[in-house]
Amino acid sequence: MDILVLGSGGREHAICASLVASPLSDKVYVAPGNGGTAQIACNVALDIGDGAAVAGFAEEHGIGLVVIGPEAPLVAGVADVVREAGIPCFGPGAAGARIEGSKTFSKHLMDTYGLPTAAYGSFDDEASALAYLDEHPAPIVIKADGLAAGKGVVVASDDAEARAAVEDCFSGRFGSAGATVVIEEMLRGPECSILAFIDGKDIRVMAPSQDHKRAYEGDTGPNTGGMGVYSPVPIVTAEEQVAMEDIMRRTLEGMRAEGIDYRGCLYGGFMLTDEGPKLLEFNCRFGDPETQVVLPRLKSDLVEVMLATAEQRLADVTLEWRDEWAVSVVLASEGYPTSYEKGFAITGLEDASALPGITLYHAGTKRTDQGGFVTSGGRVLNVTALGDSFEAARDLAYQAVGLIDFEGRWFRSDIGARALRGRSSWDA
Ligand code: AMP
Ligand code: GLY
Repeated sequence: MDILVLGSGGREHAICASLVASPLSDKVYVAPGNGGTAQIACNVALDIGDGAAVAGFAEEHGIGLVVIGPEAPLVAGVADVVREAGIPCFGPGAAGARIEGSKTFSKHLMDTYGLPTAAYGSFDDEASALAYLDEHPAPIVIKADGLAAGKGVVVASDDAEARAAVEDCFSGRFGSAGATVVIEEMLRGPECSILAFIDGKDIRVMAPSQDHKRAYEGDTGPNTGGMGVYSPVPIVTAEEQVAMEDIMRRTLEGMRAEGIDYRGCLYGGFMLTDEGPKLLEFNCRFGDPETQVVLPRLKSDLVEVMLATAEQRLADVTLEWRDEWAVSVVLASEGYPTSYEKGFAITGLEDASALPGITLYHAGTKRTDQGGFVTSGGRVLNVTALGDSFEAARDLAYQAVGLIDFEGRWFRSDIGARALRGRSSWDA
């Protein structure tokens, strides 16, 4: 079967790698892809936000499955157009993608179906948002309602910062994404991501993972898309795991009750609080970089699982996992997540990927005419290691990191450090 993947990050490289490895796949196209996907699949230029263009390409090339990676085309309803054309599609339609596209909608879902989350208020005007702040002092969290590329959340430690964040949102900085603001209670604890395949009726929960969202060592500095990740998560208790799986199941039931036929990956972002896991957010897609540690551990055939998800046959699927631990370190460009330069030559890729247990997923690279690679994004590479223990995987990942270089290369050297210190390292 020929498959079309939409997206261009490390997540899409990891998805492509698992699809290409399946005996069920023939040609895998990726639009627009990156330097890494160009090595294993066929990069094509396509406007991935244009449903008619995507469906047209899929029809013309006899595509048997379309896989949508990023949130923007999902929220824009590209999956609906592809399915209307009769092509199986992995990814929710616009109605389901609202779970990420509108924080007000996802909080409404959490409220209505009793899914534990932070207490909140949702506001369409600045005056009532500021009045809510008068009654709910900092620390407090301010979120733009819509998609803001990870930049729409401020965890405010004092009242002035909270007021400034509300004013900033209503200033139009995030466009229509900031026309509604959600203000919520600050939760404390370690974060944990749970991904699940959902076919509209059934759910298969994947292994948990833990991202490192802050840019700098010790979980300081600005929020990023993620600087490193591991799976499974050693600090998660069996009780917490059961609670998170139960919340994911009840989310599916809630969506069904709302009349939403959700087919794709649902991402639950949790805070492991003293009162049990609470939802921070939902995403309507695989996480990036969570995918780069979850999929390498999945033994089951990804083509089969994704097609079963698209065709509502998950009831027949059992997910199988490798026993190894996975740790992934992000190599970023100096200046990320703000501004950075691109176009620097990357060295050491072959030596690093020759290490047994190492897989390099490209996030922001471009292939040169000479067959080399240059940097083309803020997050450049995901260096993923599989090992027999958490420590072995982490040490191997950093060994590979040491072999790769480019101008301005930087990374966090403490990925996994808190997990190794144990639960008390989050108590501060
Ligand atoms: P979100 O996009 O909603 O996941 O928010 C991005 C990041 O902001 C999360 O991964 C958390 O680190 C932080 N965050 C969001 N909501 C809260 C909250 N209620 N309490 C504490 N931190 C939060
Ligand atoms: N790693 C967080 C996300 O994909 O949104």
